Amino acid sequence: MTARLLTNIGRFFTPRDRSIRSVEDAAIAWDGDTIDWAGPASELPAGLADRDTIDCEGRAVVPGFVDSHTHLVFGGDRSAEFARRLGGESYESLADGGGGIQATVAATRAAPTEELARAALARVSRMATAGTTTVEIKTGYGLDVEHEAKMLDVIDAVDADAPVDIVPTLLAAHAFPRGVDRVEYVRFLVDELVPALADRVAFCDVFCDPAAFSVEESARVLEVAAKKDLGLRVHADQLSHGGGAALAASLGAASADHLDHAAEADLDALRRSGTVAVLVPGASLSSRLPFVDAAAVWQTGVEVAIATDCNPGTSYLETMPFVIALAVLEMGMSPDQALWAATRGGARSLRLDDRGAIEVGARADLVVLEGDHHVDLSYRPDGNHVRHVIAGGVPLPG
Ligand code: NIG
Ligand code: FE
Repeated sequence: MTARLLTNIGRFFTPRDRSIRSVEDAAIAWDGDTIDWAGPASELPAGLADRDTIDCEGRAVVPGFVDSHTHLVFGGDRSAEFARRLGGESYESLADGGGGIQATVAATRAAPTEELARAALARVSRMATAGTTTVEIKTGYGLDVEHEAKMLDVIDAVDADAPVDIVPTLLAAHAFPRGVDRVEYVRFLVDELVPALADRVAFCDVFCDPAAFSVEESARVLEVAAKKDLGLRVHADQLSHGGGAALAASLGAASADHLDHAAEADLDALRRSGTVAVLVPGASLSSRLPFVDAAAVWQTGVEVAIATDCNPGTSYLETMPFVIALAVLEMGMSPDQALWAATRGGARSLRLDDRGAIEVGARADLVVLEGDHHVDLSYRPDGNHVRHVIAGGVPLPG
């Protein structure tokens, strides 16, 4: 029988408005995939006490993590390029030489679907073991209808087999395919690719940057996606201040991601448009670039999410506890802010209001930590903090 009650919780921590609320000596119950009771154990209704139970032995419980920005379907790796970047070559100059995203496009196109699915499923399984219960996955290493559709087949296969919830995003505007004229590629995205694949995804994303798609090109792609009822996401102001965040705000995008070079006026615009700022400290870490001042971003009132950005180029990392540690130790967030951003913030950026908090009616996505406080996630940044994961009401094995 599947457990449907957590008892003997030392404390659970849950986002409430823009802060974290904690409940001591608690219990949490769920029916199917939905929480139907959460509060002090002394108030647990008698009718729920005989449910199949996991005894938390005084440990802390937090909501399942929502990883709202990943590129985890890819062929090959870019470790050789990583070595060259450590030697001083820039991401942009490697891309100009046919490396970067183009190298992963070639490897992903060449790889059999089953091989891509096996590797992606292994990554998602490791994410789940570390407490992630919802994962957004982008395409963007296919760059034509056949290969973007192949990536969506892989995402579907992962969705069918993974224990966690998967959210697919179309990122065909990630780079210009080699040998294709840029004006022609944007026309093709707008007239053919986005309309052909829109019904297979929840979101459309664009890499808006002077080194990738211009603001005008990005706007054309996003506008056609919006007409197809897709939510919008934008890789914005990552490499330079290119107008991506302002564009995301003007289109009412669900998220603007990276934001390394966003100005205060951009953050203000994001707050007004209800666009979530998705910060990805792994990309700063692996690129050895300055971290975004997340405390300052939070201060503007914009909603903030943090995510792995799992990809083979700029951020090959998989676990949200590590992202939380980076957010606190390198981006200046408080542990409470980082927990909020890794749970409710991620959910808000995916427009999934049924998760990211421990409350009646929310999805039963829960993480039982090893310790008695979520501060351990950054206080002990290399720790193995996860005791049990419950995803959509189902306890993961192990
Ligand atoms: O989020 N900025 C573009 N996209 C990814 C990198 C993808 C890659 O290098 O393969 C990012 O950093
Ligand atoms: Fe990305």
